[in-house]
Amino acid sequence: MLVTIKDDYESMSEQAAQIVAEQIRRKPDSVIGFATGSTPLGLYNELIRMHRETGLDFSKITTFNLDEYVGLPPEHDQGYHYFMWENLFKHINVDPRHVYIPDGMADDIDYFCEWYEEQMAEVRGLDLQILGIGANGHIAFNEPGSSLGSRTRIKTLTSKTVKDNARFFDDPEEVPKYAITMGIGTIMDARKLVLVASSEGKADAIQATLEGPITAMVPATIVQMHQQAHVVLDTEAASKLEYEHHEGIVERK
Ligand code: F6R
Repeated sequence: MLVTIKDDYESMSEQAAQIVAEQIRRKPDSVIGFATGSTPLGLYNELIRMHRETGLDFSKITTFNLDEYVGLPPEHDQGYHYFMWENLFKHINVDPRHVYIPDGMADDIDYFCEWYEEQMAEVRGLDLQILGIGANGHIAFNEPGSSLGSRTRIKTLTSKTVKDNARFFDDPEEVPKYAITMGIGTIMDARKLVLVASSEGKADAIQATLEGPITAMVPATIVQMHQQAHVVLDTEAASKLEYEHHEGIVERK
C-alpha cells in the first residue's frame, strides 16, 4: 500500500488528481470509478482545471459511480446523478453515453444491480476507483458489517445516515431509506484504488484502515488486501497513524 501525506486539503486533492490524470494520459479509454461526498470535490475541481488549462481529455473514458439513493430521480439535488454532473461531468468533455451511475428509480433493483456488474465486466473492469471513507470506516454504502466479498446490491441505510440526511429534505417521507451500492468485492476488483481522506474526523478510521486488523466492522480495512492501493491523506487525517513517515511518503508492502 502506498500512503502519501500532504500538508493540507488542497495539496491532497492535487496529488489525487495527478494520479487520476496520469491514468487517463497513459490509457485514454480508462474506466474510472467515481465517488461522491465532500472529500473528492477538491480532486474534481483540479481535474476540471487540468481539462481547461492543460487539455486533459476525458472524451474516451468510461465512468461508473459507486452508489446512489433509491427513490430519487436523476434531477433531484440530493441525488448522486445531480452531484456528479454539477461537480464534474458537465465541466469536462466526458461522453454522456459512457457515464454509468446506479439508477435509484429502477423498477427491478436486483436486476439493475446485476446489469450494472455486467456493464463493468463488459468494459473489462475498472482501471481505477476513487474512494472516500466514512468516519466509521465505510466505503461507498458498505457500512460496518457488510460482507467483504459483496457485489452491487441494495442496502438499507443506517438510522444515523437517514437522520443526518433529513435536514436536506423538506418532506421527511422523501428521505431515502435505501441505496444501491457497489459491493466491497466489486470495489476490490478495480485494478487501482485511490482513497482520499481529509480532516481530523477521519483520523481514527484511517488509523484502523492502514494499521488495524482487516475486519468487516471497518470495511475500508480491506484495502490492505489490494495490490495497488494508494491512500492520499492530509496531515489531520493522518494524525493518528502510529508508524513512522518519511518525507510524507510511506510505502508498505
Ligand atoms: C459516496 C461514498 C461515501 C463517502 C463517504 C465520505 O459515493 O462512497 O462512502 O465517500 O461517506 O464522505 P465525505 O467525503 O463527505 O466525508
